[in-house]
Amino acid sequence: MLPTIKWDENKVIMIDQRKLPGEEVYVECQNTDQVAEAIEKMVIRGAPAIGVAAAFGVALGVLSIDNDEKLDEEFARILHRLEITRPTARNLFWALERMKGAFERNKGLELSHLKEKLIQEALDIEAEDVETNRKIGFYGKELIEDDQSILTHCNAGALATAGYGTALGVIRAAFQEGKKICVFADETRPFLQGARLTCWELHKENIPVVLITDSMAGYFMQKGEIALVITGADRITRNGDAANKIGTYSLAVLAKEHSIPFYVAAPFSTIDFNLNRGSEIPIEERDPQEVREVGGHCLSLADVKVKNPAFDVTPAKYISAIITEKGTARPPYGESLEELNNVKEL
Ligand code: MRU
Repeated sequence: MLPTIKWDENKVIMIDQRKLPGEEVYVECQNTDQVAEAIEKMVIRGAPAIGVAAAFGVALGVLSIDNDEKLDEEFARILHRLEITRPTARNLFWALERMKGAFERNKGLELSHLKEKLIQEALDIEAEDVETNRKIGFYGKELIEDDQSILTHCNAGALATAGYGTALGVIRAAFQEGKKICVFADETRPFLQGARLTCWELHKENIPVVLITDSMAGYFMQKGEIALVITGADRITRNGDAANKIGTYSLAVLAKEHSIPFYVAAPFSTIDFNLNRGSEIPIEERDPQEVREVGGHCLSLADVKVKNPAFDVTPAKYISAIITEKGTARPPYGESLEELNNVKEL
């Protein structure tokens, strides 16, 4: 399995996703600020991976506390630094809430024991994420038939999680079962997660992949070359609306026009039951340079006005099913997600 992030002797090691596929370089973080910066600069990205990184960032922060005089204040400062890194992915806030819960339960312990507990909580979040993705793969593979071509957007693979992936986890599980499949990967402008990361990941495991530019998706759907679309999600609201990488909404509309199923694969940690609908999801606006440049080369006028929303929201009506670790939810999502939420996992 691909190494996305790991805890190693009180340090956090992550593969620098900005450099892939050209260079496989690992970055070492020794404190909360370094983890927060790695999330902001997209050294690590993808909703579940951001959550795992944030949990490790909290553990590093608590490790650096040397007395318990201002423990609550110090902990709030650590959480805040990580909370302000990226606004859209629910998993970030979910992981921080879990770390806060572990802190509250254990803050009466001796400082050294509190530190151990928080490291363990972060390691649990990491391990559970891989397990969750395997379950998503298990449920999702049933939706893929032999000889089908699957379109995916951005990177919802091992690199976007602690391992195995969500949308790519479903694809992996189908492939591992012996289904002959081919993946169409959208390049995913402007950060090129599809071209750089999804192709790299699939190629490493010999899963057939074809790279297309974002604007080619409709052409291949019209020609009947795409059987289904699977993407990940950054935040899903109670009614099933799903925020994911910019461009996902256009794909969902195109898929509906061509009667192609459009699936979202995501863990429950991506579902925000506090929000009723997608219009309530905060959408991150990123640096304009990401749009003006490709690979550090300016493509346009150096000062041209740019808009760079990193995500869009696909309304639930375009989503054929949401694949989770507890099973596959079908519309109406208000009911099916709630029902699955109450299911105890096997
Ligand atoms: O900006 P990114 O690269 O963090 O965006 C990632 C995505 O949009 C993924 O599709 C999403 O996080 C799901 S990852 C399993």
